Parts: sequence; C-alpha cells; structure tokens
Amino acid sequence: MQRPIGIFDSGIGGLTVANAIRNVLPNESLIYFGDTAHMPYGDKSEEAIKYYSLKIGKFLQEQGCKAIVIACNTASSLGYQDLKDFLGDDLPILNVIDPVVEFCGRQPNYHKIGVIATKATIKSDVYAQKLNLALPNINVKSFATPLLAPMIEEGFFNNNISKTIINTYLSSSKLKNIDSLILACTHYPLIRNEINEFYKGKVDILNTAEIVADDVKRKLASLNLLNTSTEKPKHQFFVSDKTSAFETSTRLFFGDKINLTLKNIWDKK
Ligand code: DGL
Repeated sequence: MQRPIGIFDSGIGGLTVANAIRNVLPNESLIYFGDTAHMPYGDKSEEAIKYYSLKIGKFLQEQGCKAIVIACNTASSLGYQDLKDFLGDDLPILNVIDPVVEFCGRQPNYHKIGVIATKATIKSDVYAQKLNLALPNINVKSFATPLLAPMIEEGFFNNNISKTIINTYLSSSKLKNIDSLILACTHYPLIRNEINEFYKGKVDILNTAEIVADDVKRKLASLNLLNTSTEKPKHQFFVSDKTSAFETSTRLFFGDKINLTLKNIWDKK
C-alpha cells in the first residue's frame, strides 16, 4: 500500500495527470518518468511508441511501483496492451482512455463526441473504437491537432496566437455539431478555457486529467492498494533528457517547481 504510483508520459505534459492524481490522492507517493529524449510521441511510429512504453514500464516496475498509470494518450493508444501483456496481471496498468470512455457511457446527453489529439493517437483510432464498442449509438468525430502540444509547451496560450490556432482547428467541418469534446492529449487541459470560449459553453469539454485521477483512486481502492499512512508522501521526477526549458515548463503542468532527475534507461541490458 505504501509503495509509489508510477506515472509516465512522453515528456512533461503528463504532469497534468500527475497533478490531478496528487489532488485526489494526497497521501500517495509518485514516481514520474517523462521520456523527454523521445518526445513528441505524437509523430513517432507504432513500433517506437510500444518499445518506449515497455522500457519505461519495466523501469517503474523495478522502482517498486504498486500500479502504473500511462499518463500519455499516444502511449495509451499504442503501448497499453503490449505493456499489460509484458508485465502480467500482478501489476495494475491504467491508461487515460478507458476512464474517459466509461465517463462518456454515463452521459445520456452525448450523441456526437469530438476527439482531438496527436496524429498518432488519431491514426490509431483507439478512442473511436472503444467509444463505439461501449456506446453503439454514438457518433465519434476524431481530428488530429498536432500544433497544439508544442504551442502549449512553448507557453503560447491565452494569447492571440493560440486563439487563432485553436479557432482554426475547432472550425473544421470534421468537428461540426459535436455536443462534447474529449481533450485526448496531456497538454490540452491548459487550453480548456480557450476551447470553452470558442464553443461559448455549448459543448461539454471533458476534463480528462480529473476523470483519470478519480478512476485511479477508485481502482486502487478496489484493489485495497490505497496508502493509509499519514506520512508525508515522497515524489520523484525522472526525465530521459534534461534541459532548463523542461524544468521551467514543469510549473505550467504541475503547478509547483519540480526537481527533475536525469535517468538513462535505454542502455540498460
Ligand atoms: N503526451 C502526448 C499525448 O498525450 C502529447 C505529446 C507528444 O506528442 O508526445 O498524446
């Protein structure tokens, strides 16, 4: 129970999920791994994303994590099943897609759901497939918005540039008449307000990080894995490449200043 929760992402965007988990599970220690050497995953091949996911999953297992949360939508789309098969049933592996699909299943007013994400996530079609399986009458409109993650990472939001890019993407005929929108990328919670302004509150914008964090809490509780100790939790943040820019951007995604530790897991036999 007292072991940490492992969380990983292609980079530092997954800290939005780590932050949401910290908010609902303040007793839990977290070990975060951001694969900054290989980001963005959104432009990588399926094989590469699977390989990175297995390596990072193994690393987190070796750190003694009691569960692993794949905080990256692209890795959840392409690496989840392989990682589950690889690590076996003893270690719970959670992704960011299933909780959101389950959440949509509890919303009787959703008929036409939009999904925006990286190119690799949209190409995988995993969101649409899982939504259609769970909700046979649902209409899913998926649309790749690859400029958004780098834009946010560079601190471009709440300004004219972000407004123009967001409005151009959301005006696409592909997203016409949607009633809800899944922000299927770690970075997008930071532009949720701007997206809401575009739709003037008429489209439900799903706060995916919060939905995932609530699900992590439920799953750990059901497995009797919640940390009941009152000791202050310890968090560790590893990255596979470290620059001062990464360290600065962590505040955007996690809220607080974080000390990043450089960790090379790629050369290990
Ligand atoms: N973390 C990725 C995701 O949620 C976005 C950034 C990337 O392309 O690596 O899909």
